[in-house]
Amino acid sequence: MRLDRFLSEATSISRKEASKVLHREEVSVNGVVQKKGAFQVPAGAVVIYNDVPLELPGPTYLMMHKPLDCVCANDDALHRTVFSYLDLPNTDKLHTVGRLDLDTSGLLLITDDGKWSHRITSPKQQCPKVYHAWLADPLSTTDISAFAQGLQLHGETTLTAPAVLEIINEREALVHVHEGRYHQVRRMFAAVGNKVEKLHREQIGALKLDADLAPGEYRVLSAEEIALF
Ligand code: URA
Repeated sequence: MRLDRFLSEATSISRKEASKVLHREEVSVNGVVQKKGAFQVPAGAVVIYNDVPLELPGPTYLMMHKPLDCVCANDDALHRTVFSYLDLPNTDKLHTVGRLDLDTSGLLLITDDGKWSHRITSPKQQCPKVYHAWLADPLSTTDISAFAQGLQLHGETTLTAPAVLEIINEREALVHVHEGRYHQVRRMFAAVGNKVEKLHREQIGALKLDADLAPGEYRVLSAEEIALF
């Protein structure tokens, strides 16, 4: 990595400020003062800025309780973004692992590790997700077999993969899906003539939303949680 980039990623200074700092001979790499931003920092090098050894930050892995009325996008002209809830620098480097709709709440993973998020979202992995749905009309036991057999969603050519519908009460259910089609859960209920009034994601793979997180709150994942995927 270039030295100016290393400096800006390891500190809060911009690439432009990094050039000035280098010019003032305030940075050494492996004991030798370096003045050029283009200098390639060797792997494992000791970089010192004003007598302080620098370290690149590791990848970021967060779980958020996504609130309603915010979008899973880095910028949006109309709505608040999920990233606006983060009190962190460099949020432009982060992405959400899949998306939840504007009007869906619940477990959302956020990272800057593209390989990790791909393992969760790749259709090949069939990572299960659990949603809690509140319905406008009463559920029927025939819905359970319809979800298990696969549903024809409006405008799609293939049936949905078998999904498990667990009825909690007349108008509430848990849905276990392995796919991530657009508005999937809402469209699945539409395919059986019902309407989702409220939707909340509870779980991705073996990872459950931390019950201590209020809507809009987030926390860093533990090493064990990261290793689940
Ligand atoms: N299915 C939906 O319909 N919406 C979501 O946000 C997630 C899954």
